[in-house]
Amino acid sequence: MSMDRVAWSSLYNITRASSGSKPFSKALLKRVFGFARPHRGKLIAFVLLSIVMAVLAVATPVLAGQVVDEIIAHADAGTVIGLAVLIAIVAVAEAGLGLLTRWLSSTIGEGVILDLRTKVFDHVQKMPIAFFTRTRTGALVSRLNNDVIGAQSAFAGTLSGVVSNVVALALTLAVMLNKSWLVTVLAMILLPIFLIPARRMGSRLADLRREAAEHNAAMGTQMTERFSAPGATLVKLFGRPDEESHEFALRAGRVRDIGVRTAMLQFTFVTALTLVSALALALVYGLGGWLALAGQLAAGDVVVLALLLTRLYAPLTALSNARVEIMSALVSFERVFEILDLKPLIQQKPDAVASPPGPLSVEFDDVRFAYPSADKVSLASLEDVRTLDTRGGEEVLHGISFRVEPGQTVALVGSSGAGKSTIAQLLSRLYDVDSGAVRLGGTTPGTGVDVRDLTFDSMRQTLGMVTQDGHLFHESIASNLRLARPEATDEQLWDVLRRARLEDMIRSLPDGLDTVVGERGYRLSGGERQRLTIARLLIAQPRVVILDEATAALDSTNEAAVQEALGAALEGRTAVVIAHRLSTVRAADAILVVENGSIVERGTHHELLAAEGRYAELYRTQFAEASAVAREAVPGY
Ligand SMILES: Nc1ncnc2c1ncn2[C@@H]1O[C@H](COP(=O)(O)OP(=O)(O)O)[C@@H](O)[C@H]1O
Ligand SMILES: [Mg+2]
Repeated sequence: MSMDRVAWSSLYNITRASSGSKPFSKALLKRVFGFARPHRGKLIAFVLLSIVMAVLAVATPVLAGQVVDEIIAHADAGTVIGLAVLIAIVAVAEAGLGLLTRWLSSTIGEGVILDLRTKVFDHVQKMPIAFFTRTRTGALVSRLNNDVIGAQSAFAGTLSGVVSNVVALALTLAVMLNKSWLVTVLAMILLPIFLIPARRMGSRLADLRREAAEHNAAMGTQMTERFSAPGATLVKLFGRPDEESHEFALRAGRVRDIGVRTAMLQFTFVTALTLVSALALALVYGLGGWLALAGQLAAGDVVVLALLLTRLYAPLTALSNARVEIMSALVSFERVFEILDLKPLIQQKPDAVASPPGPLSVEFDDVRFAYPSADKVSLASLEDVRTLDTRGGEEVLHGISFRVEPGQTVALVGSSGAGKSTIAQLLSRLYDVDSGAVRLGGTTPGTGVDVRDLTFDSMRQTLGMVTQDGHLFHESIASNLRLARPEATDEQLWDVLRRARLEDMIRSLPDGLDTVVGERGYRLSGGERQRLTIARLLIAQPRVVILDEATAALDSTNEAAVQEALGAALEGRTAVVIAHRLSTVRAADAILVVENGSIVERGTHHELLAAEGRYAELYRTQFAEASAVAREAVPGY
């Protein structure tokens, strides 16, 4: 029980920290309306139709009052029937126009959501890798799904309803005041009784929605992380499923409580409103009837006042509900805008150029780099923390300089954590350097193009990288390969699969190239997955190749074969290879030894061995061990 309370209060604190009841700014409203601007024409048509609808709504009670007056005045039957036909025509017109306005308001609403949704998707795609390494996928997906739909309700339903209801309200009041100001004023006296609490309830509901959204996002995160193949494996091996379920149940329970609370608040409000309107109706009959008996009011006017009163409270209900609806929709807009406002750290320059043709050199010129701190790349609410770590990242590369001539291979070696992968990520512009430059092409130092000046498209066509944990999408083998070259023929696919030593295995599968590799490629063995990512590199045919421990997951038999394929793939291309196997390193044109973010030694294999420095040491420990392990490795782990 006490465990429950602790978990609970921490949950509560998280949500309090990120929500709290804060008023919505004018800027937010302006921005929301900005999304409606492209639909201006339809909006104007909608407002005009709403005014017509409001006039029609007032016409019926007025006509009904006339019927009563005609009856009392003993007019002829023709007049009464004429009025009745008019009432019928008004009803038909109301129905037709109602459909039309509804169509207008939903096309506007859905159109706005379409714009918002595509904008957000587009924006998130542009975010740097640093953003994705920090955010929780579930929280992000929930933001894109739930909140975009939440924002929709503002436009599709309510925001548009406000216009027609305001017009209806104004017209109804005008006619009523004209009939009897005394009755009208008295009937309206009851109104403030619920209009004041309604305001407070609006913000209370908005808070509840915010909290529910946080919980939904947290549950989404838990599910996307735990229900992925690697996540589920981890939970089965090391996890505590009971506690996972408990935490999930706690959040789901809170969402249920919020659901009930919200429903009850809304229902209480509607009930109160209905009651007040019924009481006001009694007052109209009593006071109006008394005035009519005294000869100060026509009988027809009593009927008009009573009918209009019921029509008065309907738009009022709608309006106060609309307030609540709009407030919670604004919560959603706010959460979506929060993402749109994150500036992507790595952007394509407006005057970006394509990479120069032909074989390219690679150059690092006094590169310094620190991984960006959280507040630069992410949102607290997407990381599941209360406040973002604002400390600047620690520098991990301290002035790296080297050059790889076109067609040459440079090998990076060094202890784990030395900064080798970081160098690879800077070369492929997954991150940008803090100072110095990474250049491609150019025959002499300093003459190449800075990777920050290249277009994203040309970067993709120029560079190819294979990492140790290469990712595959949950799609077929063919479509995973075609990601790198959409126009590749089946022939070409088989060719690279042959070179990656995968042909026989894939030919033996019943679905061949159409075999779906499973979540993150989990239906393949580690080695097969790795060889498929190598095949993807081969099909891409990049001019600059980066291998970051690309063959680490292969057993020695496969490795020798794939090495051969990679050797052929590196032919004539510029390559930066991070290797832990001696064979690769020995074949390189130059070897750089990286330690603690600096290059401490450079030279060929023989030069470095002769120097008896860090490389010689690594050679004796790391490489000797790695080859021994490789020899004993179980094939296809
Ligand atoms: N995304 C990241 N955010 C912050 N620090 C990182 C990140 N990736 C790596 N580091 C840190 O940078 C340093 C260099 O890492 P890395 O380049 O991956 O080393 P390796 O030489 O083993 O490839 C390490 O201290 C590591 O902890
Ligand atoms: Mg690494």
